[in-house]
Amino acid sequence: MRTRLRTIRWEADGINSYILEPMPDEVLPRFDPGAHIDVQLASGLARSYSLVNDPATTPYYEIAVHHAIDGRGGSKHIHENWRVGEIIEVSAPKNNFPMDESASHTVMIAGGIGVTPMLPMIARLEALGKTWELHYVAANRHRAAYVDRVEGYAQTELVFDGEPGVVRLDLAGVVAKAPADAHLYCCGPTGMLDAFVAICADRPKGHAHIEYFSAETELAVEGGYTLELRKSGKTIAVEEGETMLDALLSAGVNVGFACSEGVCGTCEVKVLAGVPDHRDHFLTEDEKAANTAVMVCCSGSKTVNLVLDI
Ligand code: FES
Repeated sequence: MRTRLRTIRWEADGINSYILEPMPDEVLPRFDPGAHIDVQLASGLARSYSLVNDPATTPYYEIAVHHAIDGRGGSKHIHENWRVGEIIEVSAPKNNFPMDESASHTVMIAGGIGVTPMLPMIARLEALGKTWELHYVAANRHRAAYVDRVEGYAQTELVFDGEPGVVRLDLAGVVAKAPADAHLYCCGPTGMLDAFVAICADRPKGHAHIEYFSAETELAVEGGYTLELRKSGKTIAVEEGETMLDALLSAGVNVGFACSEGVCGTCEVKVLAGVPDHRDHFLTEDEKAANTAVMVCCSGSKTVNLVLDI
């Protein structure tokens, strides 16, 4: 979809927000809290960003982008090239981090830019009159986006753990205090998410939710296997040094992708036979064990042949 870049706003050191408006006489598809859009940056370069605004009251898409100095180029492209007024192509919203609105209580834990999907969640929970709490960790106030939107709530805990004398977030304590039937959400750096998953291991299944915004994914580039594409009838060899996605694109197979590191879910393809070597952070452990889907941007194959439903 085409959108118009209406506003760029400084939110924190290295973090800008971008408001993308519908084109004249058009309406953007609605979204639920936790959703993201894929943003087309240049040919072959796309990135996923959580939607920040309250979908009930604002008819646009707002995203926030942290300029990752050591990133793979997406955030640098946006910070250095985007200008107010230009046309930006985006996907329809997708939601890999949906909120369970029936929860008795909602606990949100955010690290840095990971606060973004929590903002529409808070707006929705407030509208529903539900109880919630937010624990927001950043190095310091200057590097924490949207503090102004959350610090007015008594149930927000701000932890600026790069400042002298500040006690780090007691993640285990936060999780232990949550009622047994609460739903918990965590979005932040990989270390925080890994700790959250470990701490939540004994909580009821499906009550602890995570979203990666980037990951140190080890891409499967060992090659040495063949892809059999059931629908198109093609057979493609994946050579050493390339990902499954590289091989598919080189063979002219049109597969959607965005993050290219196994976190956004855009490149998911059904597996009909064979065993993938799962490297992503998107599928659940149960889904990985079932071997009925593979994220082609980062995963490989444990069998010499993998049959895909494309
Ligand atoms: S492109 Fe994002 S998971 Fe593969």
